[in-house]
Amino acid sequence: MGIYLDNAATSYPKPQQVAKSIYDFMIKNGSSSGRGSYQRAMQSDFFVYETRKLVGELFNFKDPKKVIFTSNVTESLNLALRGILKENDHVVTSSLEHNAVWRCLKTLEKEKNITITKVPSTKEGYTNPMDVAKSIKKDTKLIVFNHASNVLGTIQPIKEIGKIAKDNDVLFLVDVAQTAGAYNIDVKEDNIDLLAFTGHKSLLGPMGTGGLIINCDYDINPLKVGGTGGDSAYEYQPDYYPNKLETGTLNVSGIVGLREAIKFINKESIAKIHNKEKELTAYALYKLKEVKNIEIYGPQNSEDIVGVISFNIKNIRAEDAVHELDSKYNIMLRAGLHCAPNAHELIGTKEIGSMRIGIGYFNEKEDIDKLVQALNEIQG
Ligand SMILES: Cc1ncc(COP(=O)(O)O)c(C=O)c1O
Repeated sequence: MGIYLDNAATSYPKPQQVAKSIYDFMIKNGSSSGRGSYQRAMQSDFFVYETRKLVGELFNFKDPKKVIFTSNVTESLNLALRGILKENDHVVTSSLEHNAVWRCLKTLEKEKNITITKVPSTKEGYTNPMDVAKSIKKDTKLIVFNHASNVLGTIQPIKEIGKIAKDNDVLFLVDVAQTAGAYNIDVKEDNIDLLAFTGHKSLLGPMGTGGLIINCDYDINPLKVGGTGGDSAYEYQPDYYPNKLETGTLNVSGIVGLREAIKFINKESIAKIHNKEKELTAYALYKLKEVKNIEIYGPQNSEDIVGVISFNIKNIRAEDAVHELDSKYNIMLRAGLHCAPNAHELIGTKEIGSMRIGIGYFNEKEDIDKLVQALNEIQG
């Protein structure tokens, strides 16, 4: 099986019941949702509805019809940004965004002449909420922040930023790709208007699942129009949620897997998952110091980061090191820019990238021990 330490890209393994539920659905049901009225189609509708409810509840959100399913958080972020931002709007964002946000904003800058303010952060990725407040202008429509960086792991003060957004009547969109399932997130307490999640990372669901929770009254334009299963004689997209924003056949098999994943998380409890990941992260930060010639980026404190640690080893290219870890030791981690060039600009590694450990719920301390030993061995 090897040692999988790339959970920041996607989590592995998944709970057994996630895979089993997808298999069972495909073998025993396999019908579309929102289309038919026969019993199996109704069961499919129920699975989708229950998943909306479970996802919402995970983030203390009580309106399942405003839990919109997408294929991943990239689509959710595109949906929110493209569906809200209009000509000449101003947007405030962090210095650490993934390309899922950044490329979308840069494209809208070209297409709709939006203006973007990148809030400064320290080299460790800490943002001062007062700098967010200072960035707000008369024409600011929205603030978009990741909850945690996928390069440095740094957790952002979303509650404080959300409060600033609320006080200034600005929408607050949060990318919880790296935290959902392993951190308590509460759309009300954290003042989140729009929460974009992906199903396949710490939510432990299958790839091809994600969504957008709409905790506000803003009327979002759809990304796509087409069949929604109802109102078929009407020539335009329906104007009610979720149909307005969910076009085409849903990924019901994936959603069924996500449903099982959330049931697993609820059974284990977010607190248990969080504590285990935090303990492993603290252990990794401590043990990695035993690696010769290592430079670790970001906060060296497990309270301030998710289970994501980026580092380099002097005189070894990150790509070469991860290749050797894989081929000789069967240890899997990722090298490169991790789709977040802005974060690398911040730490001065835009040219060389970094190696990255992504810790997951199913990792153990021995995985870190073996990695540390291998990182020393490959240096001779
Ligand atoms: C912070 C962040 N945002 C967005 C994404 C994109 O996720 P997905 O590929 O599931 O859309 C990732 C995943 O790498 C991420 O870490």
